[in-house]
Amino acid sequence: MPITTCIFDAYGTLFDVAAAARQAADEPENAALRPHWQALASHWRLKQLQYSWLRAITGAHTDFWQVTGEGLDWALEAVGLAGDAVLRQRLLDLYWQLQAYPEVPAMLRALKGAGLETAILSNGSPDMLDGAVRSAGLGDVLDDVLSVESVGIFKPDRRVYDLVGQRFGCPPEAVLFVSSNGWDAAAAAGYGFRTAWVNRAGEPVDRLPWTPDHILSDLTGIPELAGV
Ligand code: LAC
Repeated sequence: MPITTCIFDAYGTLFDVAAAARQAADEPENAALRPHWQALASHWRLKQLQYSWLRAITGAHTDFWQVTGEGLDWALEAVGLAGDAVLRQRLLDLYWQLQAYPEVPAMLRALKGAGLETAILSNGSPDMLDGAVRSAGLGDVLDDVLSVESVGIFKPDRRVYDLVGQRFGCPPEAVLFVSSNGWDAAAAAGYGFRTAWVNRAGEPVDRLPWTPDHILSDLTGIPELAGV
């Protein structure tokens, strides 16, 4: 069955989540962050995701912005910068307006030019996704931005992946689902989507019951996978 609909994870896939810590570390007032920014970015991302999974399995949902702040608090303490409220706020402000990876606009334009539907499906709350889409200038190459907030539980709960068929009326096998998170690509494959895992860092494949159909090192190959 041909692909009609390309669905993208947001954070880490379209938007560079390490950019907030990297950019803050470059600013003269944040010299204390400079030796730690990579560790901070890595702890921040991991805790943000762990908290999302733990909240999903315990039924303690809150929105992704709160989880992002709580993950940041853990990460700042881990690198010895817990007391710096100005730095904390700066990092959150930068996270709100993350840069897209450089190949993203042309890749989405190619999909739209070929008549495919494109959307984000993300843990992000609608307002934080709106901030990121606007600052990256992607509004006119996306048909929609779907947030888990409409079902009140985080990925990889199946109710999140159900949002795609509900919005676009397509069967799972007509969807190419693209994520930089190995666990998200794997769970989406288990759901029945065609899947591409964008493995920029050359990480090992997650040991889960499902595996993604394709593994790419960036997003430039997506139009070809989608049959464009
Ligand atoms: C998202 C996270 C998982 O955008 O990256 O859903």
